[in-house]
Amino acid sequence: MNKQSVMVILCLVAINSTMSPVLGSDPGMLENSGVNFRDKAAIQRGAKWFVNYCLSCHSASYMRYNRLAEDLDLDQDIVLRNLAFADVNIGDTMEIAMRPKDSEAWLGKTPPDLSVISRSRGNDWLFTYLKSFYRDENGGWNNLLLPNPSMPHVFWQLQGIQEPVWSSHDEERVIEHLELTSPGLQSPQEYEQTVRDLVTFLDYLGEPSKLKRKNIGIWVMLFLVVFTLVAYALKVEYWRDVH
Ligand code: HEC
Repeated sequence: MNKQSVMVILCLVAINSTMSPVLGSDPGMLENSGVNFRDKAAIQRGAKWFVNYCLSCHSASYMRYNRLAEDLDLDQDIVLRNLAFADVNIGDTMEIAMRPKDSEAWLGKTPPDLSVISRSRGNDWLFTYLKSFYRDENGGWNNLLLPNPSMPHVFWQLQGIQEPVWSSHDEERVIEHLELTSPGLQSPQEYEQTVRDLVTFLDYLGEPSKLKRKNIGIWVMLFLVVFTLVAYALKVEYWRDVH
């Protein structure tokens, strides 16, 4: 293998490693989340939604509060005051107080840890999931992406209540779309932003060093390009005498 093919392989490996896998999603149904992982303000807002609306049931046990402070350019005091419950230390991970046995008894299922949910489900899935809760005919909460979930629609006061509009296909009733029948505290645009901020936070949670990695990645790619040119010039120089 000559130097150039080694360079090409290295470049391909580098490009491939910037793409993250997305599992378990039906691309046809999913909306584009529009997440910008560089938007630190969105991550901060998302962290607040997460702590207030999700952390009662879901842990994020790979994340420590002091790491959050460092990555989001926040004082440790501000993080403790705004993003943590009273008895938490700055070095703790984002755990929940509820015991798995209790949550299973109350909800029918133990809520999964959400540390790496953005990597297993993908941002578009999470975005669509949080917008797809609806009230079904029995008056309970249901979801287009996760039918009959054990999770309630925790944002219903913000989003309002959606109900399904049905249509018939080959004698089978299917949900055509969801309609907002009772508005919530936020407008549909505001709610969309809330969900986008939260998914931006979950995306950060899935890989806290992504920003650093991508920034370093640009320099690595530039180095490879420059190095290839130098290696090529050297090869020309060496082989000049041989021919
Ligand atoms: C009352 C407890 C509770 C709260 C609060 C809650 N969840 Fe859940 N969540 C659950 C349970 C239980 C499940 C398991 C649902 C199932 O599989 O039927 C779940 C499942 C999920 C899943 C699907 C995981 C998967 O891959 O199947 C995601 C994503 C999720 N929750 C995100 C959130 C987010 C984001 C919030 C905050 C906005 C939140 N949850 C708040 C209880 C909760």
